[in-house]
Amino acid sequence: MKNKIKVAPSILSADFSHLHDEVKRVEKSKADAIHIDIMDGHFVPNLTMGPKIVSAINRSSEIFLDVHLMIYNPFDYIDKFVEAGADLITFHIEATEDIEDTINFIKKCGKKAGLAFNPETSFSLALKYIEMVDLVLFMSVHPGFGGQKFIPSVLEKIEMAKKLKDDMKLDLDIQVDGGIGKETALKCKKHGANFLVAGTYLFSLDDMKTGVDNLRL
Ligand code: DX5
Ligand code: ZN
Repeated sequence: MKNKIKVAPSILSADFSHLHDEVKRVEKSKADAIHIDIMDGHFVPNLTMGPKIVSAINRSSEIFLDVHLMIYNPFDYIDKFVEAGADLITFHIEATEDIEDTINFIKKCGKKAGLAFNPETSFSLALKYIEMVDLVLFMSVHPGFGGQKFIPSVLEKIEMAKKLKDDMKLDLDIQVDGGIGKETALKCKKHGANFLVAGTYLFSLDDMKTGVDNLRL
């Protein structure tokens, strides 16, 4: 289904003392993927998970694993996340100078490659790589923490990417991450996003499936 909106709950907002149950909750919600935020304490001012947790999530479920690397030198860690079971690996354009090599290596490993952009990063930097990747991720908060407020200037970037996607007939996912709830999801979809990441909103609900359905509407 070409125009289907994909939704990925961000495991960062889960209760880690019951990780397996939280993964099962995502599975039952019929979300398209689990979004896993990897932070190194340098590229962003927070530390989260590594390949071992990705591997544990992979053993808990068959669900598609969307791994979002917020780390410097992503190239050096690709093989570890591939081994852990990542299906999509997204890294930040601001985090490395080896952008092409990193994309090529992810693809050589048979995985989908995504390129992420911080809120203040210009979309023009994407032009060179947009045909090489499977996904562009526009951060709608400053990366590092869940529960922040959506930054509306991201909508302009989404729109530029959507235009390029249509003009060039690209098979490209346009993902948005940060501050996504019912209202912000509507705005993102209106501007051309087809892949929404949400942590706080989805994990705060008793019935995650209704939340996922709401974001798809
Ligand atoms: C932030 C992370 C996000 C975060 C989103 O750096 O990349 O994936 O978990 O959380 P919410 O939906 O709470 O903004
Ligand atoms: Zn993320």
